[in-house]
Amino acid sequence: MATLVGGITSSHIPAVGIATTKRLFDDPYWKPFFDGYVPVREWMEKVKPDVVISIYNDHGLNFFLDQVSTFAIGAAHHYDNADEGWGLKTMPPVPGDPELSWHIIEALNKDEFDLTMCQEMKVDHGLVVPLQVIWPDAEEWPVKVVPVAINTVQHPVPSAKRCYDLGVSIGNAIRSYDEDLKVVVFGTGGMSHQLQGERAGFINKRFDLDFMDKIIDRQQELTALTTTDFIREAGSEGVELIMWLTMRGALGDKVKLLHSNYHAPISNTGAGVMLLEPVE
Ligand code: DHB
Ligand code: FE
Repeated sequence: MATLVGGITSSHIPAVGIATTKRLFDDPYWKPFFDGYVPVREWMEKVKPDVVISIYNDHGLNFFLDQVSTFAIGAAHHYDNADEGWGLKTMPPVPGDPELSWHIIEALNKDEFDLTMCQEMKVDHGLVVPLQVIWPDAEEWPVKVVPVAINTVQHPVPSAKRCYDLGVSIGNAIRSYDEDLKVVVFGTGGMSHQLQGERAGFINKRFDLDFMDKIIDRQQELTALTTTDFIREAGSEGVELIMWLTMRGALGDKVKLLHSNYHAPISNTGAGVMLLEPVE
């Protein structure tokens, strides 16, 4: 059977992608951020997962405002990075695992989640940047990826509780997959940030650190937050933290914290990385 070996939260800021390509790991601005990924890279080297389920939000690339899906899953053989460019290292398409995708789709359907099923899907920085920052030396991707895209662009966006419950079902689906695979779940995005409007540049370090604390074993306090709470406390784009709660749902009731790091600001964002291990 497949084993869910861990969960990771990561920033997906486009500027991180270009800083990774330029290998600015020891640059004074970037060092406190990149140093936070060293234990994650070492853990990946040791565990060598086969598949990443990446819970991310599309930023208007595959889903534009004319057609937005609340929950979408990729079921393709590969996914092209069609993001802005920014001079990123050129990489082959991200390989998919359509069989696992269809297993998850069937399982989620039984749990009464109605997903948009994408047999073609372009992916953006929300999915690609976390892969880059964790495997900066890769010439080809060392894992297969199943993308799960959650709407944070067009309101109403799904609630934190709904996302957590979706994550619970994703976790159960992974653990019921009859293949000997090691699976890691990513929740990308966050933390507090607002990219436009009067509060552009808003970051709430106190909220971010409290969120990182509670997601370990007081996640119910976070799933009680409304979209308005997120926007008020974490800025309009801080609502991306529902990706983290989806990942957390997949890991089951209890987790062990293996590593975390927070640094702000990076670009316009409070950036947190966490490595969590499910506890049976
Ligand atoms: C930034 C953060 C994001 O989540 C994003 O999608 C784009 C940019 C930023 O901090 O610059
Ligand atoms: Fe984003």
